[in-house]
Amino acid sequence: MRIVSVVGTRPQLIKAAALVPALRARHHDVFVDTGQHYDEAMAGAFFAELALPRPDHSLGVGGGSHAEQTARMLLALEPILVAERPDAVLVYGDTNSTLVGALAAAKLGIPVAHVEAGLRSFDRRMPEELNRVIADHLSCWLFAPTPAAVANLAAEGITSGVLQVGDLMQDLAARVAAEVRDAAALAAVASSLDLPLAPGGYAFATVHRAENREPSAMQAWAAILADAAAVRPVVLALHPGTRAALDAAGIALDPGVRVIAPQGYRTTLTLQLHAAAVLTDSGGVQREAGWLRTPCLILRDRTEWVEAVAESAGRIVVVGLDRRRAADEMARLAPADDALRLAAERAATMDLAPAGAAEAISVALSAAG
Ligand code: UD1
Ligand code: UDP
Repeated sequence: MRIVSVVGTRPQLIKAAALVPALRARHHDVFVDTGQHYDEAMAGAFFAELALPRPDHSLGVGGGSHAEQTARMLLALEPILVAERPDAVLVYGDTNSTLVGALAAAKLGIPVAHVEAGLRSFDRRMPEELNRVIADHLSCWLFAPTPAAVANLAAEGITSGVLQVGDLMQDLAARVAAEVRDAAALAAVASSLDLPLAPGGYAFATVHRAENREPSAMQAWAAILADAAAVRPVVLALHPGTRAALDAAGIALDPGVRVIAPQGYRTTLTLQLHAAAVLTDSGGVQREAGWLRTPCLILRDRTEWVEAVAESAGRIVVVGLDRRRAADEMARLAPADDALRLAAERAATMDLAPAGAAEAISVALSAAG
């Protein structure tokens, strides 16, 4: 089958890295990068690190308001789809690049394949929720990661073309986590970041959701991170959009919060695996913490990854921006006197298997083509 696959943001580059080898084993893949993310640390660096193919088309759209960004992407993508005449357009996840790939293709009558179909936060104030709903309703192949995602689609009347394939990101995490389980991997990261990081001796954090870039929300999660930093340093890999929002609001973080640039994939998994705990609003990071069995506080009111929370034996907790709750859960999940032992034990016993999603997606598309 001739497929145009569309990426644009950091998590989509990571998902593509998991899928592309299996996709290219059976299909002709034309790789399009919208350029929604454009910093070297948010996008460029992942091409080399994850051995991604060079894009056949780079749209270079960058940031802007939702309308501006989406409109620029639509205008740039349509002629490419017309010229490439693919049998299908494949999109990943729930970003504006996902929406555009699905919409441009559907309007041209090209079948759409959606990876990570069916996820719902049931909060339409989130831009991601709008993107997911629209992409799913325009798709012919709906590759759902979880049973809840399949059920969500069924509740919206979508049953045809739905296939539960498992979580594509787990395929990549399984391979890379095995390479970084040794404490030496953390020592190398500590040295490159020039931070004194020992297993269980720090917490790792990321924050980038649009709702967490509002001034009141930033004050609230900054307080949560400051409380965590009173016990052990918090390493915050800061998205450039969040950094800009903090600067604009004049919010300074506690000195115990060690702000670092966005990191590569391998470094990020290393930092998660050996941390005492992870604090995040990222969809990808919360699942990775779950697979690595690192305690995780989700800095959102709800999550679309309900199974990850349910299957975590209480290690993943949705705390929102509730400072009291976050402090209590940190004390429970990462006790000051035992975090080192727990972290070492986790790394030593880690046993993460691939989900097989990449192969399942590629095979399903073969059957169709
Ligand atoms: C986007 C996705 C979000 C996803 C996240 C992954 C949408 C609506 N949101 O959010 O679902 O979880 O990517 O990280 O698609 N910026 C830079 N350099 C970059 C990229 C962004 O400076 O390389 C700054 C710019 O100020 C930009 C802002 O971040 O305006 C927001 O970027 P954008 O791509 O619009 O959304 P994200 O917040 O990254
Ligand atoms: N990630 C990374 N560097 C970082 C922060 C995150 O490589 O500094 C990885 C993380 O391990 C996960 C993915 O990026 O694989 C998640 O992407 P992000 O948090 O940007 O978006 P979301 O998953 O919330 O859409």
